[in-house]
Amino acid sequence: MDRTQIVIPAVELQRQREFIRQLAARFGGLGRAPAALVDTYGCQQNVHDSQRIMGMLRDMGFDFTGDPYEADIIVINTCAIRENAEKKVFGAVGQLVHAKERNPELMICLCGCMVQQEEAAERIRRSYRHVDLVFGPQALWRFPELLWQACTGRGRVFSIEDEPGSIAEGLPVVRESAVKAWVSIMYGCNNFCTYCIVPYVRGRERSREPADILAEVRGLVADGVKEITLLGQNVNSYGRDLDAPMDFSDLLAELDKIPGDYLLRFMTSHPKDAGEKLFDTMARCSHVARQLHLPVQSGSTRVLREMNRGYTREQYLEKVRRARRAMPDLVLTSDIIIGFPGETEAEAMETVSLVEEVGYDALFTFIYSPRPGTPAAKLPDSVPRAEKQVWFDRLLEAQNRISAQRHRAYVGEAVRVLVDGESGDAQWPLASRTNGGRLVHLRGDASLVGQYVLARVTDANTWALFGEALQENHT
Ligand code: SAH
Ligand code: SF4
Ligand code: F3S
Repeated sequence: MDRTQIVIPAVELQRQREFIRQLAARFGGLGRAPAALVDTYGCQQNVHDSQRIMGMLRDMGFDFTGDPYEADIIVINTCAIRENAEKKVFGAVGQLVHAKERNPELMICLCGCMVQQEEAAERIRRSYRHVDLVFGPQALWRFPELLWQACTGRGRVFSIEDEPGSIAEGLPVVRESAVKAWVSIMYGCNNFCTYCIVPYVRGRERSREPADILAEVRGLVADGVKEITLLGQNVNSYGRDLDAPMDFSDLLAELDKIPGDYLLRFMTSHPKDAGEKLFDTMARCSHVARQLHLPVQSGSTRVLREMNRGYTREQYLEKVRRARRAMPDLVLTSDIIIGFPGETEAEAMETVSLVEEVGYDALFTFIYSPRPGTPAAKLPDSVPRAEKQVWFDRLLEAQNRISAQRHRAYVGEAVRVLVDGESGDAQWPLASRTNGGRLVHLRGDASLVGQYVLARVTDANTWALFGEALQENHT
């Protein structure tokens, strides 16, 4: 793809700002501040996209509410990764019919990955007639224009064309926290793992210009943000489409030069593209967290091939060894799918044995869910759900044991943590994260929120650590 066709021209973005102005005038006529409800399903990409939608809504003059009956506009940002995610969305959208009955002026908008699929959009068209506007992830930057059409036109608006996708710089954003922020470094995915819907709904891989990313991160650090997570479906393929010779490790090294007291995290790393250069760069860069989310998906080389993952069990284990050699204190996490079509019990147990061999700090585990339109959905799948559940439970049991053990090793240690918020729990009033991203429930004063402190770990369980703040850390 030619980059001039990918980057949205400034004049187009200016046009969108004009629609924001017109919408502000329109909703300004209510005699009170208009209210918006934004509900988000799915991954961090979606959370960050919702922050941009909220940025546009804020610029239109909206306040935010959690109550659908108070809202003048409701935006549901949807996910399609598993059937369950879709069921939840349809349930939530179905409920909104009551809010629409009470307030026929209410604008109901659906966006995100789920609606980019033909069948889901069709179902909304047919059976969810209270929905006014539907747009896919690639159309996000045109939300103001689409909303204007939906408000002023005669009918419902659907913008779900099959687009390879673009890059829109400078969209407004509402950050949920003054301490932590997401920064997208790339969009889309070209990997086409055979079970996965993402490449079909998020378009082709495209990288933001390094200068734009550097400027955004510099701005966040200047604003006092302490933890910045770089986002992409596969951050390791960052830069392949750029004119400048720059890969993800080069980008990390450049970002690391920005002075200040902050940490850089990133997700997700595809194992096929993670190597020595990345591990060495992480080890060398003082701002880069010692944390790697390296989804293996399966411990069976045969299943990995069927999944189109591009590595074998042995190659994966070798990468883990190399990563740990470069960073002995690395916190390692992974995603796993149990019950891929054709997977045998023995193959599922190979996954359990890989998990035991690696000794992850934590896992995100899923039972395979067929996604219409993906190659895996066409494969015969004869293992009953109940049997997959048994394998899944064995995996969880193994991981829970390992997580508990790894967490226990922290007890008695003093660790530097970032206090990122209050928990609402009287006994452990603060929530904090270690450099490796482990959660520490903390005793300490609310004034510590937003600061790095030294904490003594006093207890641990399978899911988290517990501790007390020792002192303010002025390093
Ligand atoms: N880009 C990331 C993952 C995005 S989706 C990566 O490649 O690692 C997050 C996780 O959802 C995946 O890692 C996978 O474990 C899981 N997942 C994706 N499609 C799935 C499906 N059809 N059924 C079950 N789990 C799935
Ligand atoms: Fe899906 Fe694979 Fe792309 Fe991850 S790398 S988003 S699992 S296709
Ligand atoms: Fe994320 Fe779900 Fe889309 S996991 S990329 S929101 S399908």
